[in-house]
Amino acid sequence: MPARPIRVAIVGTGGIARVHAAALRSTAAVLAAAADVDAGRLAGFAHEHGLADTYTELGDLLREVRPDLVHICTPPHAHREQALTCLRAGASVLAEKPPVISLREFDELTAAEPAASTGPWFASVYQHRFGAAQRRLKALAAAGTLGRPLLALCHTTWFRDQAYFDVPWRGRWETEGGGPTMGHGIHQMDMLLDVLGDWAEVRAVARRQARRTRTEDVSLAHVTFASGAVASVVNSVLSPREESYLRFDFERASVEVTHLYGYTDRDWRITPAPGARVPGRLVPPGPAAPSGHRGQFGEVLACLAAGRRPPVTPEESRRTLSLVAAIYAAAFTGQPVTPADLKPGSPFYERMDGGQAPW
Ligand SMILES: NC(=O)c1ccc[n+]([C@@H]2O[C@H](COP(=O)([O-])OP(=O)(O)OC[C@H]3O[C@@H](n4cnc5c(N)ncnc54)[C@H](O)[C@@H]3O)[C@@H](O)[C@H]2O)c1
Repeated sequence: MPARPIRVAIVGTGGIARVHAAALRSTAAVLAAAADVDAGRLAGFAHEHGLADTYTELGDLLREVRPDLVHICTPPHAHREQALTCLRAGASVLAEKPPVISLREFDELTAAEPAASTGPWFASVYQHRFGAAQRRLKALAAAGTLGRPLLALCHTTWFRDQAYFDVPWRGRWETEGGGPTMGHGIHQMDMLLDVLGDWAEVRAVARRQARRTRTEDVSLAHVTFASGAVASVVNSVLSPREESYLRFDFERASVEVTHLYGYTDRDWRITPAPGARVPGRLVPPGPAAPSGHRGQFGEVLACLAAGRRPPVTPEESRRTLSLVAAIYAAAFTGQPVTPADLKPGSPFYERMDGGQAPW
């Protein structure tokens, strides 16, 4: 990379773009330009962030600004095409979750990446991997310090009222790719997989209980991991007392985090099994990194400057998307689902609802 500040552009200037712009301010990168199809939203965003360069066409932005990195903050159905456009123009991509709306789209995108690890590359936003406590848990689990993983709970019990679904792109398979499994619980499921690795089998139920939406508003799954660990996963947008809860029961300790949209060190607990010698806390006392976009951006920009591919890699991002696909496939077919059931040719490889959501 040249010895000048990294130049970032944002496409899509709605809610999450503001979180991106704020987090970028704490880095050495420059927010050089933004694009949105809605000229009014774009103008408001540009005014808030002192941006002179704005575009209603992403192609024009790429040609004239030549950013090093584009943050994709548009609705999920736009991600694939925009990411391909950026990669072809030589810009790396950091796309909001969900990275795309099907496994097929994901594979098309990663096939379009140049082989060189220096990029341009495609990476996904999963900001909760980047808090200090999650990183420490992952390291302890990988080192075997906590013993074998046995059981996990992964509960995203959030609340979204009907007005939330009135935004046209929300709650539709064609534009959001699913309901709370795809759009909300994906954060916690990504944390689960970050620690426990490959999933092997999924059984699930998905229901539409209360909201007027085309997708589910709640799903429940039993997941078996390649390691033999088992997990219970709940994804809901119906739960008036909102919570994000992850619990890992290892042979030598239980590790739990209770938070909502982001955790700090204080949100984590570790409980040793009787007589087990494990760390009393995950991270030392004092200031340490909470989860959030800022932590992920710092690492992404450092990798870009060093010519390395950043986390979250395509393999990791695809694994999370494949668990979402497996939950839908298991729920809609009533059958247990393994990774072999989601290969090209499977309807659930093409679309998250497999073209056959029962509503
Ligand atoms: N990581 C997180 O915690 C988090 C939180 C919220 C949303 N998200 C994700 O961020 C993305 C955007 O969500 P949001 O809540 O900010 O949505 P939003 O509706 O508030 O904003 C989307 C913006 O994209 C613009 N847009 C739509 N189509 C476009 C196109 N083809 N080209 C350019 N601009 C276009 C819209 O005009 C709008 O300004 C989604 O993928 C969502 O899942 C992530």
